[in-house]
Amino acid sequence: MSLDIILKRALVEIENCTNLATLDECRVRYLGKKGELTELAKTINQAPVEDRPRIGQQINQIKDSIHNEIEKRLQQLQLIEIEKQLARDALDITLPGRGQAHGHLHPIAITRQRIESIFKTLGFAVVEGPEIEDDYHNFGALNIPKNHPARAMQDTFYCENNKLLRTHMSPVQIRTMEMQRPPLRIIAPGRVYRCESDLTHTPMFHQIEGLCVDKEVTFANMKFVMQEFLNAFFEKEIPVRLRSSHFPFTEPSAELDIQCTQCSGKGCRICSNTGWLEVMGCGMVHPNVLKAVNIDPEEHQGFAFGLGYDRLTMLYYNVNDLRAFFENDIKFLHQF
Ligand code: FA5
Repeated sequence: MSLDIILKRALVEIENCTNLATLDECRVRYLGKKGELTELAKTINQAPVEDRPRIGQQINQIKDSIHNEIEKRLQQLQLIEIEKQLARDALDITLPGRGQAHGHLHPIAITRQRIESIFKTLGFAVVEGPEIEDDYHNFGALNIPKNHPARAMQDTFYCENNKLLRTHMSPVQIRTMEMQRPPLRIIAPGRVYRCESDLTHTPMFHQIEGLCVDKEVTFANMKFVMQEFLNAFFEKEIPVRLRSSHFPFTEPSAELDIQCTQCSGKGCRICSNTGWLEVMGCGMVHPNVLKAVNIDPEEHQGFAFGLGYDRLTMLYYNVNDLRAFFENDIKFLHQF
């Protein structure tokens, strides 16, 4: 076959290649080890001796031409490939974004903030204290000496070096009175820990301690503040009752119950058919506690209270299982 015809055919085939794979097949077909032109070169010795250099030169020229055409086509196809790729990966910056889901506060944190703002309007400041406490602040200074049976009321998690996880927020009373002199009006919200767990108790829960120390502070003042707070918290008049109780750090001591917000006192599962719900312990600060922080009980008196605000959160949002607040089920938390 004439070399010109081979060249023409090769050029058409190269032009018709539409992707890199078919172009490579084309290269192998003409220039490969067993390619058409390589095979042709092997037959040179069948030509008359004087023609051989000319035929060899022609074959080499054609090989070069085909090689150059393949290189050109290769570059074109590579460009087309890049453009296709760019088109596939095109980014439409005018499309609206996927949006970011906004987080929000945990219902117990919302409750804490609401309680803080109510007490701030009543003139109370918010203070903090450590979660890892020592025996003196958690018990001793609160008139709970070693071996006092009241220690058994609050199952304590003990740590190394005589430290413990605070079992209530009352140690913050002591820390505040050690640092500041009366008149004092503070609340201290925080986590407390007790070694107990069942339907209505969790090993970690939240309390707010309140303390007011001044001259001529009375039990009636305490009842007024509690009533004002509860009305503001539940956004309606809340009937309360005080039951006589005992805490070593207050005298007299009481438990404060509110009328069940679920059944308005008729009796239901939430209030165990009593019509009342216990929400806090309270009382007049015991003279021994004031003496422990060098405040003269003849001159100053005070009231204190400790309320569990997980239960207030349950009542406010009508949630009937305390544990739901600590399981972190997103579907549950999204409702608040
Ligand atoms: C105390 O912790 C006292 N420090 C409260 C106090 C402060 C009394 C100042 C007088 C003066 P008590 O152990 O009863 O008391 O707990 C107070 C409140 O915390 C309870 O009324 C209840 O609302 C809540 N509470 C107690 N244990 C749990 C628990 N395991 N889970 C959730 N809330 C609890």
